[in-house]
Amino acid sequence: MLVNKKIILGVCGGIAAYKAIELLRLLTKAGADVHIIMTRAAQEFVAPLTFQTLSSNPVHTELFNLIAEREIGHISLADRADLFMVVPATANIIGKIAAGIADDMLTTTVMATKAPVLFAPAMNVNMFTNPIYRENEQKLRALGYLFEAPVSGSLACGWEGEGKLASPEVIFEAAVAALTKKDLTGRTILVTAGPTREEIDPVRYISNHSSGKMGYALARAARRRGAQVVLVTGPTALATPVGVTVVPVMSAMEMQEAVMAHVAVCDVVIKAAAVADYRPATRNSTKIKKKADWATIELVRNPDILAGLGGMDYGLKHRPFLVGFAAETDALTENAAKKLSEKKLDMIVANDVSQVDAGFNVDTNRAVLLFKDGGSTLCELMSKEQLAGTILDQIIARLAES
Ligand code: PMT
Repeated sequence: MLVNKKIILGVCGGIAAYKAIELLRLLTKAGADVHIIMTRAAQEFVAPLTFQTLSSNPVHTELFNLIAEREIGHISLADRADLFMVVPATANIIGKIAAGIADDMLTTTVMATKAPVLFAPAMNVNMFTNPIYRENEQKLRALGYLFEAPVSGSLACGWEGEGKLASPEVIFEAAVAALTKKDLTGRTILVTAGPTREEIDPVRYISNHSSGKMGYALARAARRRGAQVVLVTGPTALATPVGVTVVPVMSAMEMQEAVMAHVAVCDVVIKAAAVADYRPATRNSTKIKKKADWATIELVRNPDILAGLGGMDYGLKHRPFLVGFAAETDALTENAAKKLSEKKLDMIVANDVSQVDAGFNVDTNRAVLLFKDGGSTLCELMSKEQLAGTILDQIIARLAES
């Protein structure tokens, strides 16, 4: 996601400075080349060596360090950045930058950069609500500086309230979003993800191997590109994507209800969920006891949610762009093409779920994208994040044509 991206991470003096280490780890893991600038106060909380070791780059601390300035000066550092982050950002640094003060390595480099600047403030609740701080933040926001707001909680100073640094995962997401083209702004996208569970009795159910990874990757990618995203999800072990409206469901019937409740406002519906085709005809209210050596469960068909959307009369409302997935173990393209036409879809993502590195419960996938107009695109093995990006590129191109 952040491969070849140069990020400057400014670290200020606050107890939350240690959380910048976790953020650095997330950024480097995503492929970013991270250069750290620490204020004097920051070095009282965390040793520069920690950041140097984890970033594999020298840590910048002094503006007037002759050797460091000769090797990579603060202006060239500022020029090279794709993104500048200040985490944690203290009331002091925000006040200084708002006032145009550039008296150390961090403030000077922020002033010199043309890259987007993202602040993640952390401070005492009374400092955070102080009108002086608020005015400084407003001034910077109005100038286009980005902020990832702190959250409420118990603060290190003993107070309770707003001022706690947002989690490294949330700040990471804000960094990725800041570096992502906003080509889905103004669009609402509904994504379904994960399996459904069809209960047999209070302790047993019928389900499948879907982890939700493909659908969640789509929801995250669409959100980063500026869309309003509704994620209707079956049970998964995944973290809730930042900035996405999540609607948890269990069964296919619940998923259908949730999808129908949101479809009217959607420009695009992407059905990555693995919906159970059948459910038990009856759900026993108590645990079924062992009796004979064999048992039979009578199943009834679940509604096909996607086919329902494809065949629906939208009246005067505009019909959303409908994207299905086809989980196949044989005759991939033929079976997917049949689903595309029978369910009246605009596009279908055909994935071969018999392969160990694609389909269910893995981080990678390979697919053939088929379109209503007969076109197709082959996607070789890639991460589900990358495939989500390719799927969205194709959707955007077709939305632009309509
Ligand atoms: O969740 P992961 O572990 O990341 O795995 C990803 C995935 C393999 C689940 C995903 O890539 C995928 O293929 N999802 C679709 C699974 C599926 O149910 O395929 P299908 O061929 O049975 O259904 C075709 C389409 O109709 C799907 O878009 C499905 O959501 C939809 N459908 C199916 C049945 C039903 N009752 N209602 C539906 O809406």
